[in-house]
Formats: sequence, C-alpha cells, structure tokens
Amino acid sequence: MKSKSSAPGKVILFGEHFVVHGIKAVLCAINKRVFVTAEAIDEEKISIKSNIGDLELDKNKNIDEINSPLKPFYFLADKLLKEQSEIEGIKISIKSEIPLGVGLGSSSACCVAGAGAISGLFSEKTKDEILELAIDAEKTIFKNTSGADCTVSTHGGIMVYDKTGFTKIESEPNFQLVISNSNIEHSTEKVVAEVQKFKDKNETEFAELCSKESELIESVLRIFKKNEIKELGEKVIENQKFLEIIGISNDTLREMVKVGNKTSFGSKITGAGGGGCIFSLANEENAEETLKEFKNKNYECFSVKIDFKGLDTF
Ligand code: MEV
Repeated sequence: MKSKSSAPGKVILFGEHFVVHGIKAVLCAINKRVFVTAEAIDEEKISIKSNIGDLELDKNKNIDEINSPLKPFYFLADKLLKEQSEIEGIKISIKSEIPLGVGLGSSSACCVAGAGAISGLFSEKTKDEILELAIDAEKTIFKNTSGADCTVSTHGGIMVYDKTGFTKIESEPNFQLVISNSNIEHSTEKVVAEVQKFKDKNETEFAELCSKESELIESVLRIFKKNEIKELGEKVIENQKFLEIIGISNDTLREMVKVGNKTSFGSKITGAGGGGCIFSLANEENAEETLKEFKNKNYECFSVKIDFKGLDTF
C-alpha cells in the first residue's frame, strides 16, 4: 500500500521573528513543492530516502538520540505505527523543488507532506489533524516554532497568522515575487535564539518594535483590500528596517536588498535571515527587470507565484 502527498514552500511577506513573540505575520505559499511517498512494508523498520541522504532505523528509537535532518519523518512514522497493529514498517521517499535551509519553508513543507503521506497509510485525517502532526514533527528539529510555516503550507494562499490561529486573505493580488538566494545556509533555530538574546538585552526597544510591527501588519491588511502594490512595497521596505535592528541581516543581504530596491516596489529578507533569501515585490512591469538586476550581479534568482492549493494528498 502506498500513499502520496505534496506541500508547498512559503514566503513570509511581513512579520517573521515577531510572530514568535506573539505578533501577527502575513505569509503566502509558493509554487515550489515537496513530494513525499510513504509505503507500508513487511519489515519492522522505518526507512527514509531523500536527495540529502538516507536514514534507516528500527522502530521505537528515542527521538532525542537521532541526529539527522530527516528526524521529523522518523518521528511521524514511529508515532503513527505505534497507534496501530496492522502495518509493520514504513518506507518513505522525498523529492523537493524547494532549496534547502534558505527561508523558503522547505522543512515545514517536508513536515506537512510527510504527515499527509504517512497518515494516509492509516485512517483518514483532516487537514487540521495533519497540520497538528506536522507542527509536532517540526518541533523535533526546532522547538520554538511559531507554527506559521506549517500552517501556510497546509492551507495554501495568503494568510495572516498568529499563534492563536490564521485568517486567509481572500484577495488575489496581482504581484509577483522575485526571490534571490544569498546561498548562505542558516539555522532557523540559531537565528531565533539570537533574536531572543537581543530581546533579553533590549527589552524596551524590542517591545517598541513589536508594537510598530503590529501597526505595520494592520496597515498591510488595509492595503491588501485596496490592492495597492506601491504602498505594499513601502511596507516591505519599512519591515526590512525592523529586521536590520533585531540583527538578522548581514552585508550580503543588505547589498541584495539594495539591488532589489532599484527596480522593484520593495525588498526584504524572508524567513529567519542570517543568510537565506530575500524577496522583491514586483508585478508584470518590473519583475523581468528585477530578475535581470540580480542576474547581472551573479545572484541566484527566480520568480515565484502564490500557491492556492496547500497540502495535496493523492
Ligand atoms: C521562519 O521561517 C520564520 C520565523 O519567524 C520562525 C517561526 O515563525 O517559527 C523566523
């Protein structure tokens, strides 16, 4: 018996990091996906194959003793195997279109597609149940996750999210996102821990930034209703300033933001920062020109569209 799922990556448009501290964030799912196939096997094993390596282990291992980026898949398979007695073991294979560790939600998409495919071998689950499993799996590699990335990967589209839940933004804006990759890998967990240190040292400043970010998100939500791309771009630029202050930028990312700002409506880091990607907000008039600017400077870049489907099981 086989079960297949796929789930999209994401871009955080506004509010990364602040969302970990209770503020809202605005995110969208993008048209780059992770595909997971799960298959019931007769051996009492969990066997995982991916383009970043393989992992094969007996069932019932202590999750804290597993040192592999594939750990969330093991967690999901082991947890669901324990809850039943019909299937002996699971073989999992993963294929991804999402560059790894650069802020585009590859780990969350893995957790969501993994939860979808593996749970599909057992009883049927709702999207919300799959999301809950995916967030638990993500916590095995990143304990303090806000849950934002898994949520947008599961439900797709554009959403405003905070730790209490999410609301879909129903407008279908005509923007395009030009992504450029610094090719500096980052660890979300480490960058989030550094922001926590900044907060502990600068409590008043961090509280002020949180309220400014909160105001920014409210105005972004009003701008979405008007579909005013120039105004949205100004908010992108303003949000980048907050990210600079909390220390998640560096010279390469600053240079990339400058390049993007020449032709687009506004550029900012997306995701954890410290490396990874930035996005530039564009439309059909300036997307090509913006891509050209990045290519001329030898940055890896591509444009993405919004994915409205989210988790797909088949
Ligand atoms: C990572 O894509 C986004 C962060 O805000 C962490 C999180 O929300 O869990 C940095």
